[in-house]
Amino acid sequence: MNKPVYILAIESSCDDTSAAILKDKTVLSNLIANQEVHEKYGGVVPELASRAHQSNILPVVKAALSDANVKLEDLNAIAYTKGPGLLGSLLVGSSFAKGLAWSLGIPLIEVNHMQAHILAHLIEQDNEPIPPFPFICLTVSGGHTQLVLVKSSAHFEIIGQTLDDAVGEAFDKIAKLLGLPYPGGPMIDKYAREGNPDAFTFSKSKVGEFEFSFSGIKTSVLYFLQKEIKKNPEFINKNLKDLCASVQKHLVSVLIDKLKLAEKKYQTKHIAIAGGVSANSLLRSSLTKLEEELDVKSYCPNFEYCTDNAAMIGIVGYYGFLNKQFAPLTSTPKARLAL
Ligand code: KG4
Ligand code: ZN
Repeated sequence: MNKPVYILAIESSCDDTSAAILKDKTVLSNLIANQEVHEKYGGVVPELASRAHQSNILPVVKAALSDANVKLEDLNAIAYTKGPGLLGSLLVGSSFAKGLAWSLGIPLIEVNHMQAHILAHLIEQDNEPIPPFPFICLTVSGGHTQLVLVKSSAHFEIIGQTLDDAVGEAFDKIAKLLGLPYPGGPMIDKYAREGNPDAFTFSKSKVGEFEFSFSGIKTSVLYFLQKEIKKNPEFINKNLKDLCASVQKHLVSVLIDKLKLAEKKYQTKHIAIAGGVSANSLLRSSLTKLEEELDVKSYCPNFEYCTDNAAMIGIVGYYGFLNKQFAPLTSTPKARLAL
């Protein structure tokens, strides 16, 4: 029997400070410190995010070690998010990871945040099937919307992506127009449950077969609301649930249509979703319905692994450790980093 590999993973690409401990492909602990400081600004303020990471990182790492009952000297490697993300935020995680790896004399592993969202599907959990390669993954977050052909843990082919806003950004910006707090995606999801998804319709953007565009829907909703509010200043309050349900139906149907087209072309028989928006209840139920329609198997991540978390960084770190893909201590984070 090989000795188990213990990885400490650190994620700090945006506004969540997270640390996780993995033992091989299983997660022993996965802690996240959310930053409430951004709520009153209706979005993430980069400067405040970096400062909050500075305060959170040590307590979060300590708690992750203690929850996992793992000591610093048990660790085999430290994995951290190299990018993409906010540079100031990434610098906090990378500097911490480098300092600790150096002091412990163990390897450092750089992880691409978008690969990590996808490979979160490889985390071993009781009774959770793992998609075999190749599979198609629709990665939907606050910064990205991509259809990816996942060929192995190291080979990714982008089938298509957004030309402008990410779908999470569309959820958040429309939620802001509706007066909902940041992040608005989960709020739209919540109100939509009691609304009529057919109350209002919005036209779909015309783009290439596997491309997405979400800037148009945001403007359509803005003009529509301005027109209705002129007639009735209480329009949003009176129709909030229907508005949320209709917007959610529109956004999810754009995503599902493209995912269907991709599977019809690539015929992988295994389709997955990943990233923060994969927590959306309509997207999850729509994906499951495709199983019968397309005769495929579908994979939704556990809620804990949808939005930003360090466990997903840890699983990529584990594969990096096996393949000895170690980073020099001179490595730096990158705000922009291709898949
Ligand atoms: O992956 P993530 O945590 O951070 C990025 O890497 O961007 O994704 C955050 C995004 C936000 O836009 C948030 O509104 C969205 O995920 N989100 C949701 C839901 N939960 C989170 N969008 C729709 N429905 C949800 N339930
Ligand atoms: Zn993310």
